[in-house]
Amino acid sequence: MKGKVCVFGSFNLDIVAGMARFPQPGESLIARNSMMGAGGKGANQATAALRAGARVHYIGKVGRDDFGSFARRHLAGAGFDAVTLFSTGECPTGNALIYVAGEDAENMIAVDPGANLTFSDEEVRQCRPAIAAADILLTQLENNLSAIEQVVAIAREANTFVILNPAPFQPVPDSLLAQVDLLTPNATECTLLTGVQVRDLASARRAAQVLHAKGIRLLIVTLGTQGALFSDGERSEPIPAFPAQPKDTTGAGDAFNGALAAQLANNVPLSDAARFAAAYAAVCVERAGAAASMPSYEEARERQRAPVS
Ligand code: RIB
Ligand code: NA
Repeated sequence: MKGKVCVFGSFNLDIVAGMARFPQPGESLIARNSMMGAGGKGANQATAALRAGARVHYIGKVGRDDFGSFARRHLAGAGFDAVTLFSTGECPTGNALIYVAGEDAENMIAVDPGANLTFSDEEVRQCRPAIAAADILLTQLENNLSAIEQVVAIAREANTFVILNPAPFQPVPDSLLAQVDLLTPNATECTLLTGVQVRDLASARRAAQVLHAKGIRLLIVTLGTQGALFSDGERSEPIPAFPAQPKDTTGAGDAFNGALAAQLANNVPLSDAARFAAAYAAVCVERAGAAASMPSYEEARERQRAPVS
């Protein structure tokens, strides 16, 4: 039986332009290519968890507009076990304008979270059965904090394991951190959460101590091409990065988190799960788009087997 992941998180309509370089202020620059597709950290992580081998219930909120109709259609055909999609007439569907440029296929993103920030307490209450039925709750910081806090509290009470990917960074109260089972910041988020400048494994280890002191039990700090650091407060372990030829790094963190959640839901031990997630993210960055760039379980396994040069 496949494990169940409930993803509570954002949906954004992403419009991506591939550029030779980033434009300057005031400049109009011709793109090499463009695409639109499903994005938002929530929808991306849900897609990754699904393709990495979990049963997934995705919960999100969109506007009553064309992008919202796109979201509904897209999510209905994505293969999730269940989708709960709330809607509002007050705000647009979340959207992101993304430039991808340069040798490392870095991105620059302008996000309008729109409907993602409008979850009411009552809507979150309706999500209780889905959260309670899951092995893992996976959530991010792209929704209103009031909803995230409530969702995490529900999971806690129902004994559902909580993974919080604190992205994009917004200040979070220690009371929320204390309820999280596994926190997965990247270097920037980890720096902002701790005040420790995180750039490598050694500084990530120092930051880890600060987070453990705040009540975080399990921590994975992702460090891009330097891999990741896993820490449980007593010991820490470096997780190697897998080689990749980046084409579009959008969604790399989401790939890691979704794959990690799927593995944990399927009872894979944390350090093996993190290694798989790193391989999964390496394949994701070689493809254009966000949700569309999430590889299959098999593709990530193949990357894990490939010899590291
Ligand atoms: O993590 C990548 C995502 O961040 C994109 O899909 C975009 O929507 C932004 O929310
Ligand atoms: Na990608």
